[in-house]
Amino acid sequence: MEVLRRIMQFLDLQTVLVGVVIMLLVLWLRDMRHGLNMPPGPLQWPILGSLPSLALFGSKDPLAYLKTLGDKYGGIFSVKLGDHFAVFISDYNIIKEALMKQGSCFSHRPSMAMERAVQCSKPGVVLANGRPWQVFRRFAMQSMRDFGVGKKSIEEKIQIEACSLIQQLEKMDGKPHDPSPDTQVAVTNIICAIIFGDRYEYGDAEFEQILDSIKDLTQSVEWTDLRNMFEVFDHLPYQKNFKRFIAANHRIHGVIKRQIEEHRQTLDETEDRDILDLCLRRQAGGGEDAALFKDQQQLSHFIVDLFVAGAETTATTLGWAYLYMAEHPDIQEKCFQEIYKVLGDRPPTMADRAKLPFVEATISEVQRIRTIVPLSVVHSTAQDATLRGYTIPKGTWVFPMLYAVSADEKQWKQPADFNPERFLDASGDYVKRESLVPFSVGPRMCAGEMLAKMELFIFFTMLLQNFRFSNSSSDQKIDLDPILEVTWSPKPQNIQLTRR
Ligand code: HEM
Repeated sequence: MEVLRRIMQFLDLQTVLVGVVIMLLVLWLRDMRHGLNMPPGPLQWPILGSLPSLALFGSKDPLAYLKTLGDKYGGIFSVKLGDHFAVFISDYNIIKEALMKQGSCFSHRPSMAMERAVQCSKPGVVLANGRPWQVFRRFAMQSMRDFGVGKKSIEEKIQIEACSLIQQLEKMDGKPHDPSPDTQVAVTNIICAIIFGDRYEYGDAEFEQILDSIKDLTQSVEWTDLRNMFEVFDHLPYQKNFKRFIAANHRIHGVIKRQIEEHRQTLDETEDRDILDLCLRRQAGGGEDAALFKDQQQLSHFIVDLFVAGAETTATTLGWAYLYMAEHPDIQEKCFQEIYKVLGDRPPTMADRAKLPFVEATISEVQRIRTIVPLSVVHSTAQDATLRGYTIPKGTWVFPMLYAVSADEKQWKQPADFNPERFLDASGDYVKRESLVPFSVGPRMCAGEMLAKMELFIFFTMLLQNFRFSNSSSDQKIDLDPILEVTWSPKPQNIQLTRR
């Protein structure tokens, strides 16, 4: 303290101010040097980077502002988010060049504050890198296939779950109601069946814990949290959303721990019941990969990742589908007529998809107009990269702006209109459009795409077969403005489901 006092005696206010200005100048020059050949972008300030511009112009609608920057700078621009340089890509061809052609370089994940807060030094799959990511991703996709994804057996599980959802929604007897929470339950139960081997009854205490945890985990994550921008904030007391995240994390890991123990005790050498059994089997193998499965923390994070990535996303897409059907009764009726003509009253199977092109086009259009993971999951560069002549240094955050691709006039005619016909050819057959990218592209693209597509098709078709969706209010329009969390979800609202 004495030393500090003596130093202060020699410093007057003027000296301190000059010192601060020089420090800011040095930081600014350092950033300028670092970003010398990076894509252009809005003005960057020392320390704060582009945050003042983003706060000034983008606080009301951040995604709309980012899209205008994408249009202004030719589909790729950089910003500095506190300590981190970030590149945003809104053009489909540039996204493809980065995530597909240079996939191994652009498929890293940066460290995020939430992950540091739960001391997750061994993330499962979504935030993992290197060998653990490769092992768990390959295992996730293989084991989902083993337990019926893409096959008849999972089709039946989805049909059973859709029937339970229909029974649950019938109880409302046509009264205005928000069907989204019940849909979340149904979709989560499918993941439970694949991972734990069994579905839960509605209202089961352990199931409620899982559902609440998933909701809290997804709603409390904010990429724009200052802790993500400035690592120095890691040392400050946690805010409400962090405490909610940590508590939810604790709850869901508790459930998984119990399930792992139960599975260990009842493991049957002759039969694999579910993904957890396969994980336990992997523990028994030798080598580096077995060690990953033996690590309780790593294994638990992997299972949580499947729950979080797989439950909320599919349910949110169905939530949007209900609202768009209520808003567009003519399109809904066309879907219903097609379903009725091809299936009558019998439940759909995946083999029916090709016979229901208008239904498929409608699901695609819902996924386009409300691309529910708007900025995908943040990527980062594993090493220095060159993209469109720009140099993107190692460790730069990369945001593929999937929602901007869906709204790009170069790709879609009148993108703001809800129009399933854009996915049909002149003879009414479904046309796959390359720039429909709700699941992203490249080595990091959604690992559950096949399961999600099965769930969306079977749930959507069965619900339309059984109910007419309509606006429950004569003087209020359906609210189609999204809420921005990690996903782009609809505002909770009541609609009317009338039994067909
Ligand atoms: C409509 C439903 C879904 C949508 C729109 C969706 C979308 C996405 C997106 C955009 C990503 C990030 C890709 C990237 O980093 O570029 C992702 C990652 C992932 N998704 Fe999905 N997803 C859905 C359903 C599912 C389901 C049902 C599962 C299965 C459990 C799943 C498992 C995963 C996993 C494990 C990852 C991380 C992949 C990795 O980091 O390697 N998703 N998803």
